[in-house]
Amino acid sequence: MHASTLLLFSLSLLLSTLDAKIAKRPFGQTAQGKPVDLYTLTNKNGMEAAITNYGGIVVALKTADKQGRLADVVLGFDSLDGYKKEHPYFGALVGRYGNRIQKGQFALNGKTYKLANNNGPNALHGGLVGFDKVVWTAREVPPNRLELTHTSPDMHEGFPGNLNVKVTYTLTDANELQIDYEASTDKPTVLNLTNHSYFNLAGQGNGDVLKHQIRINADRFTPVDSTLIPTGELKAVKGTPFDFTQPHAIGERINQTSDEQIKFGGGYDHNFVLNKTGSGPALAAEVYEPTTGRVMQVLTTEPGVQFYTGNFLDGTLTGKQGKVYRKRYGFCLETQHFPDSPNRPEFPSVVLKPGETYRSTTIYRFSAR
Ligand code: BGC
Repeated sequence: MHASTLLLFSLSLLLSTLDAKIAKRPFGQTAQGKPVDLYTLTNKNGMEAAITNYGGIVVALKTADKQGRLADVVLGFDSLDGYKKEHPYFGALVGRYGNRIQKGQFALNGKTYKLANNNGPNALHGGLVGFDKVVWTAREVPPNRLELTHTSPDMHEGFPGNLNVKVTYTLTDANELQIDYEASTDKPTVLNLTNHSYFNLAGQGNGDVLKHQIRINADRFTPVDSTLIPTGELKAVKGTPFDFTQPHAIGERINQTSDEQIKFGGGYDHNFVLNKTGSGPALAAEVYEPTTGRVMQVLTTEPGVQFYTGNFLDGTLTGKQGKVYRKRYGFCLETQHFPDSPNRPEFPSVVLKPGETYRSTTIYRFSAR
């Protein structure tokens, strides 16, 4: 081969390896013997997102640090077996209703609906078999998208209406994992979809997240009672450990149990009321990890975000690569409507009616500095 042809050949080979791509491999099967797959999206910079159609779970997310070194920044398991056992929604799609509904009960058009109380006296994250435990129908949309669809039958987990849901994961060449949610129903219902990834920007399993610095674009939050149900108040963060309008280390005020809200949450486990500008995705939060320089921005069309600092992780779960997940080894930024909205007419509505389309977008954007 002529030298210049060889050069061209190797150059095109190099370029083709840098194109965004999607790969699929078997990831195991459910207890009922249903096979599930793992889809790995890679962008032109080498960033990777591995997602399974079991629960729509983000299994791995590899992003670059300030030296360009990739590390997996989400908690989870190496195989499907880990996800089939009890775990705190690592990486999962949560529905029909992300977060809590008081006493597992709500009324809609004069009818009372009863849900499973799977979190003390309350309902949490869609019930016993929520969207995190169903096998979604997957469709690869090359080069950079995974489309997941699911039909939730009328009265599944107590929620009315046959609900068609579509969630699209897109890994952009701007190092963003974008999640687009879409749904429609044939009866009035309530809906609050989110993703429950636990992040550690120093790399999953590499210690706690207390030195990460976070800014949250929220002047108010929704204080809770001792069962983590909002009291209805939208409280100013100013002068409280919840003021992240300027960046603060997550650990700086997390143990200030003289603050009743910190005490109730065992740290941060609260919904922040986002300062909204326009209707498109707006910056909800930015997190910076000083040792690796990784930065994650979260943008959303949702009115709120649950900032949860892994207070209930206790070292009993061993995750990817044998890493033990101890207290506060990960944080979540669950974009959402406010908890218990079905029982709070004063909160932004979570009602979806026939003929309407539910739409929501959240973007996790990564960089390093
Ligand atoms: C909740 C936490 C809960 C966690 C895992 C979060 O959304 O607010 O209280 O422990 O999910 O279920």
